Amino acid sequence: MKALVKRYAAPGIWLEDVPMPEVRVNDVLIKVKKAAICGTDLHMYKWDEWSQTHCVPPYTMGHEFVGEVVEIGAGVTSVAIGERVTAEGHIVCGHCRNCRRGMGHVCINSKSVGIFGKDGAFAEYVAIPESNIVHLRSEIPDDFAAIMDPFGNATHTALSFPLLGEDVLITGAGLIGTMAAGVCRFAGAKHIVVTDLNPLRLEIAKKMGATITVNEAAGETIDGAMRELGIQGFDVGLEMSGAPSAFNEMVAHMYKGSNIAQLGILPHNTQVNWSDVIFNALTIKGVTGRRMWETWYQMEQMLLGGLDLSPVITHHFPFEEFQKGFDVMCAGQCGKVILEIA
Ligand SMILES: NC(=O)c1ccc[n+]([C@@H]2O[C@H](COP(=O)([O-])OP(=O)(O)OC[C@H]3O[C@@H](n4cnc5c(N)ncnc54)[C@H](O)[C@@H]3O)[C@@H](O)[C@H]2O)c1
Ligand SMILES: [Zn+2]
Ligand SMILES: [Zn+2]
Repeated sequence: MKALVKRYAAPGIWLEDVPMPEVRVNDVLIKVKKAAICGTDLHMYKWDEWSQTHCVPPYTMGHEFVGEVVEIGAGVTSVAIGERVTAEGHIVCGHCRNCRRGMGHVCINSKSVGIFGKDGAFAEYVAIPESNIVHLRSEIPDDFAAIMDPFGNATHTALSFPLLGEDVLITGAGLIGTMAAGVCRFAGAKHIVVTDLNPLRLEIAKKMGATITVNEAAGETIDGAMRELGIQGFDVGLEMSGAPSAFNEMVAHMYKGSNIAQLGILPHNTQVNWSDVIFNALTIKGVTGRRMWETWYQMEQMLLGGLDLSPVITHHFPFEEFQKGFDVMCAGQCGKVILEIA
């Protein structure tokens, strides 16, 4: 079968013929229909410092997908051939202390489909353990099903704290920040202010429900947005840029006693004005992955309830034209990019 393989410990990705995945007793074999390119795929494509320390080539990339079940292992009981499915990409052990207390998203033995420990879905077929399969309601379109993994990051982060009637600041209108704006709108936030340096992405944030967008590269400021809205601070902060300056701006604009959910991966040497955090009694919660499986139930309900993700999907390419997809991602002139595999 054809697959996009991270073949070498160097920048790039390679379309190759590889053997079909092995279908073990508890595995489900999926014929992949669509797969989306994630920011994490871009890290691995560029072979940056993070990839060099976390990933071991060769492996097939891709973890955001939708497809059809074509084969099941002898021990599989809850998934049927012909079903349309997606999957949680973190494969957890089920027996560590965190798994056993219902916190699989921080399993200490976790593997990640298409990132480390398990071949991924930029391929004609992918094998996934039954435990990770997500059944899809027919009302959820393929395009949305293919991006439930990052939508799950957005959902997990945005729903970390109560949102009804709250003023929310989102720093970073990237692939995840724009979807988070949609979640905040759906969940009843009052004002949603979104910052970025990229006008195209701020435009998407607007379509997803941002009240005001702030393009700091164009001289707009969070203070200006607050004046326009007549507010003195934010109740909830969702940091989704990973930029130290954005994080510090957020800390400086929160109400006393308010909450920040941190998804963006800040550099390890990020300096923080700790006095603001301490004396303003801020709570900062680190967020990783998706809660298993509450986040998935929440996503399903929002999609069935009419949350429209289509503004965040800007490009589709045939599988063979994957390079165009990575190029547009590298240039940042896009929302989600979907590869049409079958
Ligand atoms: N914790 C997790 O489990 C997890 C999972 C996925 C992604 N992430 C991280 O979350 C972040 C968002 O992911 P993404 O896929 O949306 O990435 P992305 O690159 O699409 O989005 C980041 C956005 O931040 C913007 N930005 C950069 N500097 C900024 C600044 N100073 N102020 C405001 N905006 C700024 C960029 O223009 C970009 O649009 C990244 O840091 C990513 O590595 C974390
Ligand atoms: Zn992803
Ligand atoms: Zn575990």
